[in-house]
Amino acid sequence: MTRVLFICLGNICRSPMAEFVFRNLLEGEGLSHTFQVASAGTSAEELGNPVHRGTVRILERAGISCEGKQAMQLKKQDYARYDHLVCMERRNLQSALRILGSDPEGKLSCLLDYTETPGDISDPWYTGDFEATYADVLAGCKGLLKHLTGR
Ligand code: 4NP
Repeated sequence: MTRVLFICLGNICRSPMAEFVFRNLLEGEGLSHTFQVASAGTSAEELGNPVHRGTVRILERAGISCEGKQAMQLKKQDYARYDHLVCMERRNLQSALRILGSDPEGKLSCLLDYTETPGDISDPWYTGDFEATYADVLAGCKGLLKHLTGR
């Protein structure tokens, strides 16, 4: 079992998008049973809230449901619970490190590190552009899948 946790700030826009896009890619490859996938935010701001409607709409268009997902906050214990903690931007990684303490096993990365254009995934909370975020998230998730499974 490979355990992946996607991380952003609020856990309502970017990391839930990555969680459900990645789950969908796994399903397509018949690999769902070999992975455990979740998402969390570094802030407590949106705790318990549903996925932002901008992300819900983009996922619906791709035929992906994220029903039932509620925002969670990253906890120190998550370091032991997951094999890969994949952040949406460098700032999330810095905040995650403050919660986790350190990264002795090198589990932390940024999603776009798995593409040919590393960098930060834009935050639709500020840009309003969920399309651009979706394109980045999809590219990153495909790269991550290839990195972890060779497919
Ligand atoms: P997310 O987006 O980190 O992609 O879920 C945000 C959600 C909430 C806030 C900022 C970004 N906020 O400032 O409350």
